[in-house]
Amino acid sequence: MFGYIFINGRLIIENKAKIHVRDRGFLYGDGLFETLRSYKGFIFMLDAHLQRLFHSLKVLKYNIYFDKEYIEDAVNKTVKKNNLSAGDTYIKIIVTRGIHRGELHFDKYYKPNLIIIADSLAPYPEDDYTKGINIISSSIIRQAIGSPIYSHKLLNYFENIFAKDEAHYNGAQEAIFLTRDHLVLEGASSNIFYIKRNMLYTPPLTQNILPGITREVVIDICNENRIKVRQKKIHYRDIIEADEVFKTSSVAGIVPVRKIDRFIITREIPGKITARLMKLYLSRVEL
Ligand code: PDD
Repeated sequence: MFGYIFINGRLIIENKAKIHVRDRGFLYGDGLFETLRSYKGFIFMLDAHLQRLFHSLKVLKYNIYFDKEYIEDAVNKTVKKNNLSAGDTYIKIIVTRGIHRGELHFDKYYKPNLIIIADSLAPYPEDDYTKGINIISSSIIRQAIGSPIYSHKLLNYFENIFAKDEAHYNGAQEAIFLTRDHLVLEGASSNIFYIKRNMLYTPPLTQNILPGITREVVIDICNENRIKVRQKKIHYRDIIEADEVFKTSSVAGIVPVRKIDRFIITREIPGKITARLMKLYLSRVEL
């Protein structure tokens, strides 16, 4: 059975949904996306995802002709049309710069394409949450400063999928990006936290990482519940010697980490504080 895809104001059956081959998203990865989900019909943090998207659209000079309310309405219509209003749904919002006209710079005449995909969400393995996941260090070395592109969720995700493949090949579920000096930046599709002596740590947004929505929710939960959290530069040594490590992302939520490369972090999964945060997080996603 085919679903319906939202393309520029129309809901089109999937096997007929088309984008021009000269679209700059296809040609150059010149586009942005947001991945989010619903929990039993409740679309979690939609406004925050749209804020991040519109911030990037503005900074990267896309000629947008729609506003947040328009996308919100389009997301709701797409979910409804696919009969997903009651279940757990995977939602992807994509904006590309539009059809290429020959100049590489951000021509003011480009007209963006807006695409929304909604699918039922296949649950992650229960073991990920009860036994923890394995992480490896990617062979891709990133810089800690000076690459503002990492703060945008750009369509060009090649480093991320390459790193994910390295993880998969090595029997792990996530890969982390390190700098040449072994600072920990983020996962291929997640942000990273560690806990040492009841204190949470995560890298600051100044370090070429995506301002993750789930990262922000976790920090907010910590502040609300007087759990100490600090944003600081994190060294690889810190995470392998940590009491607990977890990753965060919109689709998977908070996921405990069991092992990083060859180092076992903890055998108690989820750790005490991670378990508490997972519970507090789940209480937010339920209406
Ligand atoms: N990925 N860092 C990177 C590089 C990511 O790709 C993601 C999310 C995150 C976490 O961000 P958020 O909490 O806003 O989901 C951090 C999405 C889920 C994806 O891969 O589609």
